[in-house]
Amino acid sequence: EQDMPLKNKKVLVTAGPTREPLDPFRFITNYSSGKMGYAIAAEARKMGADVILISGPTNITPPKGVKVIYVETAQQMFEEVLKYYGDIDIVIKAAAVSDYRPVAYSNKKIKKQNEVNIELIKNPDILFELGKLKKHQVLVGFAAETNNLEEYAMEKLKSKNLDMIVVNEIGQKDSGFANDTNIIQIITNKGEKISYPKLDKGECAINILKKTLEFLKQVD
Ligand code: C5P
Repeated sequence: EQDMPLKNKKVLVTAGPTREPLDPFRFITNYSSGKMGYAIAAEARKMGADVILISGPTNITPPKGVKVIYVETAQQMFEEVLKYYGDIDIVIKAAAVSDYRPVAYSNKKIKKQNEVNIELIKNPDILFELGKLKKHQVLVGFAAETNNLEEYAMEKLKSKNLDMIVVNEIGQKDSGFANDTNIIQIITNKGEKISYPKLDKGECAINILKKTLEFLKQVD
């Protein structure tokens, strides 16, 4: 069908930041607003998909008709994604997952001291693990970089076994975190590079989803 190209398709989107707690009051996080991921979930639903949105903490009201699962930490996000992955047609990992978490969690508030050292340990790279487990799924990653955009993005596309990567420059006006607009580039594992002008995040979402259609395997 023309305007329901994702009918009977299952789309899983991750969005927002993760929170990695230090004690009951404090956590490590990043500036992700979740807007890009929520826009993708909303547009995928409009295109007819069954949508699961796995979201870190955001201030956004979830789109209607989308199943939302809230998580805090990267490890929780990983567990939830794995529960659904086998059955999903398109995975879009828009979440800004914290690369590290504190080694120790203190049940009591950490007291004021002159010097505090926080030891961090690496979180699982969810997308990398999904790339290893990939069968029929179309796998889409994001690369938010401040420099050497294309080079880093191509590396990620390969090392994480992705079909597509969406590149956005952070720290630029009108692009990246918290903005309503984004300036994206899509790089595919077929060697295509498509640059888009500054667009509303909804429009970016439509472009990303349209591109994924070309990668859908004919399983039905
Ligand atoms: O390597 P980098 O973190 O820049 O890659 C970004 C992409 O990888 C995003 O799609 C992000 O959701 C995903 N990612 C992940 N798990 C991590 C780190 C990043 O799934 N621990």
